[in-house]
Amino acid sequence: MTDAIRPLIAGNWKMNGLKASAAEFDAMLTGAAAVAAKADLLVCPPATLIAAFAAKAAGKTVAVGAQDCHPKASGAHTGDIAAEMLADAGASAIIVGHSERRADHGESDDLVRQKAEAAWRAGVIAIVCVGETQGQRDAGQTLDILRGQLSLSLPGGSKADNLVVAYEPVWAIGTGLTPTAKDVEQIHGFIRELLISRFSDEGAKMRILYGGSVKPSNAAELMAVKNVNGALVGGASLKAADFLAIAKGCP
Ligand code: PGA
Repeated sequence: MTDAIRPLIAGNWKMNGLKASAAEFDAMLTGAAAVAAKADLLVCPPATLIAAFAAKAAGKTVAVGAQDCHPKASGAHTGDIAAEMLADAGASAIIVGHSERRADHGESDDLVRQKAEAAWRAGVIAIVCVGETQGQRDAGQTLDILRGQLSLSLPGGSKADNLVVAYEPVWAIGTGLTPTAKDVEQIHGFIRELLISRFSDEGAKMRILYGGSVKPSNAAELMAVKNVNGALVGGASLKAADFLAIAKGCP
């Protein structure tokens, strides 16, 4: 049943990219047609580049997204950006609950859920990130951590067309380390069961992305794993050739 889910390859540029990076994005737009049969493509640049990238991407097969949002629609929150502003700039998805935000900014599951709801309020997809740390993994707590994060970070009413789950083991992010295909299959299978038990048919159709050191050389193996419906890519999403090669690796 989940085999029919169309993969999503999402690039998380993190705090990288200046106006000059538009050339790299142009190369992604140019190369996207060749991989359109394989996967949907989404690039989440820093907020400063969303409007310019979205203007370039109009009518093309690459969508533009954001990396975070504030839960409120407006107000006295200096330096923050509302989901409505990101949508207005051209974002069609917002990553929420990335482990770097959970760790660097102390974001709780409850706040992450509010941010996902803010994305919906603005009419865009929420990509909710979950994942265990090395210490939690070593202590055998991975599944308990994921169960807790998913139950508290995913809003009620999550559907396949408004919510994407990204499983990103914290120890695999930016380290070059990845879980084995067998581990990924077990964990994504576990996440799928939780999604189905909470959201029924919608949970069966929801995309579950794998993230953490995805690159062209390991993408085909990871993307072939059952219940892996695409990737959230950090470092390798900064170069068009690598990002497109990852999409090409989708089954
Ligand atoms: P990475 O980052 O691909 O550089 O490991 C993934 C992420 O943090 O989304």
